[in-house]
Amino acid sequence: MVELLGDFKRTDYCGDLRKNDVGRKVTLLGWVQKRRDLGGLIFVEMRDRQGIVQIVFNSEINPKAHEKAQLLRNEYVIGIRGEVVSRPKGTENPKLLTGEIEVWVEELKILNPSKNPPFQIEDEEEVAENTRLKYRYLDLRRPRMQKNLILRHHLAREVRNYFDRLGFLEIETPMLTKSTPEGARDFLVPSRLNPGHFYALPQSPQLFKQILMISGYDRYFQIVRCFRDEDLRADRQPEFTQIDVEMSFVTIEDVQHIMEGLMVHLFKEVLHRELQTPFPVLTYEEAMNRYGTDKPDIRFGLELYDLTEELRFSDFKTFQSVVKEGGVIKAIHVKGGGNFSRKDIEEFTHFVQTYGAKGLISARIKREGWDSLLEKVLTLEEKRGVEKKMMAKEGDLLLFVAGPYKVVNQSLANLRLHIGERMKLIPEDEFQFVWIVDFPLLEYDEAERRYVAVHHPFTAPRDEDLMLLRNHPEKVKAKAYDLVLNGSEIGGGSIRNHLQEVQALLFEKLGMDETEARERFGFLLEALEYGTPPHGGIAFGFDRLVMILSHSDSIRDVIAFPKTQKGTCLMTDAPSRVSPKQLDELWIKLKI
Ligand code: AMO
Repeated sequence: MVELLGDFKRTDYCGDLRKNDVGRKVTLLGWVQKRRDLGGLIFVEMRDRQGIVQIVFNSEINPKAHEKAQLLRNEYVIGIRGEVVSRPKGTENPKLLTGEIEVWVEELKILNPSKNPPFQIEDEEEVAENTRLKYRYLDLRRPRMQKNLILRHHLAREVRNYFDRLGFLEIETPMLTKSTPEGARDFLVPSRLNPGHFYALPQSPQLFKQILMISGYDRYFQIVRCFRDEDLRADRQPEFTQIDVEMSFVTIEDVQHIMEGLMVHLFKEVLHRELQTPFPVLTYEEAMNRYGTDKPDIRFGLELYDLTEELRFSDFKTFQSVVKEGGVIKAIHVKGGGNFSRKDIEEFTHFVQTYGAKGLISARIKREGWDSLLEKVLTLEEKRGVEKKMMAKEGDLLLFVAGPYKVVNQSLANLRLHIGERMKLIPEDEFQFVWIVDFPLLEYDEAERRYVAVHHPFTAPRDEDLMLLRNHPEKVKAKAYDLVLNGSEIGGGSIRNHLQEVQALLFEKLGMDETEARERFGFLLEALEYGTPPHGGIAFGFDRLVMILSHSDSIRDVIAFPKTQKGTCLMTDAPSRVSPKQLDELWIKLKI
């Protein structure tokens, strides 16, 4: 049954044919999507990466091809020659871009049969993700996946065009590098030639791009794979791609300007949409106060209000004890939320409890007063104060959480998103960027009992805070900035420490003594002594960006061969055991 390709040369992609091709003789190569056998006529939907076209086998016009077409099954690979014709009136298919035409087949070649696939190659078909990942080669045939990967390619191409035009150089940095854990865990690679020594896969090219600035390359970018051994989520992969950028002699605003330009360019060239610049800017503190998170989705309201001052002296025991322990009382204002039922509010309560909140207090604003356990314990003045601050009106719902600052913010930030989605307040087709700036440089890690860098240890303190670094490190703000799109952190960067003394002091504040700092980062400290220009940069999460621009729910839908939540590849079965001989060569003995 199987035939050779022979002289069949593709003239067109199936999905590209249109009305103005009528009358042309074409050669198509692709897959059988579906076959409908109506006796004398056999209709086949033929698919390639551009889409689907209907091809027709007619027993009267071409009995030989018609007979062979009876053998066709889903996913067979075929080649056809035929003529493009208009579909008869009334049989057009508006759902297909090729729906006005069909191809009358003159010659058919069956190039390869296929086993019956475990799922239909259609977007509509609901398939368990594990099955999709195991048969990734079939999953990638689905139109939605093809669309995502084509979009990804177009974006990568335009990233390169944009930076090239601005004089940036794409320079590759090593994949086998030195382990300098500070942030996520490293993936390690044993060195056969150096027993007992390991390379690490790069978590980012951070130090190499800084070294390139020291070497005078001035404007660098790279579309680069990064590796982090961390717990995975819907927007995280153990290997992912960054658009990595570094520039010399720049300010925060210069970096922001270049990256806004990149977004404008990508939106225009690839999505054909205009973006407004400059993007809005929020300080870290303001973002935390108003949205409870440093990655706020600003496409909708439902902001958080801090009511600690208004309710500090209330008779309500819970509030009293929270305030005494240095906690906060915050609330969100759900306009027209008075209609949520008791059951809904119970559900919201369980929801915030998963983020560590002790409970959720609700108040429905009614004409006669608050429908709430707070109605009796708060004074009229306190209630009016809250209503005024939140601009609450009859028919609205207020939801309060009291407790430690972090817990309250996290609970309400997530509740805000949850209710926003339920009430359909989030405009799906809108893209809202926001810069977050003035992050703290360091934060105290209770578990490790030392300061850790909020971004990374190479971030510079703000000039005006430099004097605080020695004695009040917790008060120092960083020259760091994140870019957030629709509530997702798509990029982060900073101006770096180009002065060796400041970098060394920072290592000290991170709990590294001089010997340790020299052992781990000696090459950087040394390089900094040979004429380092002031420099700064940023990295965007490319997968995340493609995920948002393609309206995908998971980062795995924009990566050709992703890993599962457990870091495995179901298609190849990686990671896998290796032979004792391989381990021997690497001087490794397993403990298990
Ligand atoms: P950062 O660690 O913030 O910065 O990373 C930059 C961006 O990369 C994306 N990202 C991820 N995407 C998918 N899976 C992951 N596991 C993952 N981790 C991060 C995010 C993030 O904003 N060297 C610095 C950049 C710099 O300072 O220039 C860095 O790597 O979108």
